[in-house]
Amino acid sequence: MQQPVRISPSILSADFSKLGEEVRAIDAAGADWIHVDVMDGHFVPNLTIGPAVVKALRPHTAKPFDVHLMISPVDPFLDAFAEAGADIITVHPEAGPHLHRTLQRIKALGKRAGVSLNPATPAKMLDYVLEEVDLVLVMSVNPGFGGQSFIASQLRKIEAIRKQIDKLGKPIDLEVDGGIDAATCRQAIDAGADVLVAGTATFRGGPDRYAENIKGLRG
Ligand code: DX5
Ligand code: ZN
Repeated sequence: MQQPVRISPSILSADFSKLGEEVRAIDAAGADWIHVDVMDGHFVPNLTIGPAVVKALRPHTAKPFDVHLMISPVDPFLDAFAEAGADIITVHPEAGPHLHRTLQRIKALGKRAGVSLNPATPAKMLDYVLEEVDLVLVMSVNPGFGGQSFIASQLRKIEAIRKQIDKLGKPIDLEVDGGIDAATCRQAIDAGADVLVAGTATFRGGPDRYAENIKGLRG
């Protein structure tokens, strides 16, 4: 069943020179989760942050850290992100040879396990693992950068996964990531998403606007 919409601002669009302050500001502005984009310059063409930064940010908020790993191989880093304070750890099926094993490891670490699908990756990828996951993340841009345009074909994928989740009857979160703004948020929610990641649309205009920006994404 589709759950109430939660907003997970991506700190990729925050001011990196004062990340702790930015996390406190989006927390106060009503963010439900904090989305952390981890990139390795190999699985995706950009480099961002590692477990040390997640650990440094942990004291700045009690909200869940929604850690999106765009790294390959991913298995060697799961423990470090769990220890650093991640609450949800999401991986791409292409990032390791044994997705099922990776999900088992995340759960053994006491964390919620997510699977992220790139725009060209079919929903079918979930067929034999959906029961193991707590969250499905549909990428509505190609991973690597903030500020890209929403890829509308992903709405069909969200609809298909919504049906699969409802058929299973488990409270699996369905998250969408990339190009979410005041217009596309409605389309994503109507298609069945219940967690929206937003970088550009959250941080636009500076701290005075964060609360209004986040409110505008709830559809
Ligand atoms: C892209 C990241 C996204 C990105 C979203 O690889 O996974 O989380 O920060 O940025 P916007 O909301 O600007 O499209
Ligand atoms: Zn992301």
